[in-house]
Amino acid sequence: MSKIALFGATGTIGRRVLDEALRRGHQVTAVVRDPAKLTADDPNLTVVEGDVLDPESVAEVAKGQDVVVSAVGGGDGPGHIATIRPAAESLVAGLRYLGPDAPRLITVGGAGSLRKPDGTQVWDAEGLPVPLLQIMHAHGDALDFYRTVTDIRWTNLSPAATIEPGERTGTYRTALDDLITAPDGTSRITAEDYAIALLDELESPQHIHERFTVGY
Ligand SMILES: NC(=O)c1ccc[n+]([C@@H]2O[C@H](COP(=O)([O-])OP(=O)(O)OC[C@H]3O[C@@H](n4cnc5c(N)ncnc54)[C@H](OP(=O)(O)O)[C@@H]3O)[C@@H](O)[C@H]2O)c1
Repeated sequence: MSKIALFGATGTIGRRVLDEALRRGHQVTAVVRDPAKLTADDPNLTVVEGDVLDPESVAEVAKGQDVVVSAVGGGDGPGHIATIRPAAESLVAGLRYLGPDAPRLITVGGAGSLRKPDGTQVWDAEGLPVPLLQIMHAHGDALDFYRTVTDIRWTNLSPAATIEPGERTGTYRTALDDLITAPDGTSRITAEDYAIALLDELESPQHIHERFTVGY
């Protein structure tokens, strides 16, 4: 059993991470901006108010935890620019306040920077809408930042190109920087299976100081 502080627990992916963590008996502190949005209906769940963009808030909730997980997002393109890399910097700064006892950090990333078989990256595709490109590059900037960090045990988990709520199958594949595609050419993962992959990594660390990705 791990003690987990979870940012973004009210979001599409964060809720699945929360459910998967509770299903496995972990003790979760969900850090939300508006506590009215989440009911602590499980004895292993505590809901507290906090802001991922405030390093002092991060340090306060991270103290005494084993792992901090962040599944935060910022809505449309400009929202992500305002949130994703600043959140990465704030999370790392907050954990640094805690020194060598700082918990491990696992963050939800983006698929844009993943490599395709032809050597291009997902965000190189023609015709992508600007707001989506902005989101992809916000995650790319955050990953660039994490890759400079050696004193905090971070892991960044990129979803497949498409992630949406669906079946919890428990079957998935992982790779490092290469986009995972199925034989039919699609790149997808349900948010439920993404949550399984994240909790598997949390319980059995394989990717400290690395980005990895999950898909079918
Ligand atoms: N294929 C891909 O690469 C792919 C696809 C989908 C999503 N993603 C990424 O996955 C992440 C999660 O996506 P999602 O669809 O689950 O997002 P979502 O449903 O919009 O949820 C976003 C979460 O972030 C929280 N949040 C935003 N700003 C915050 C702040 N300053 N402090 C604390 N919490 C904050 C929100 O909390 P409130 O309830 O307070 O608003 C919400 O819980 C995003 O970064 C997104 O870009 C990647």
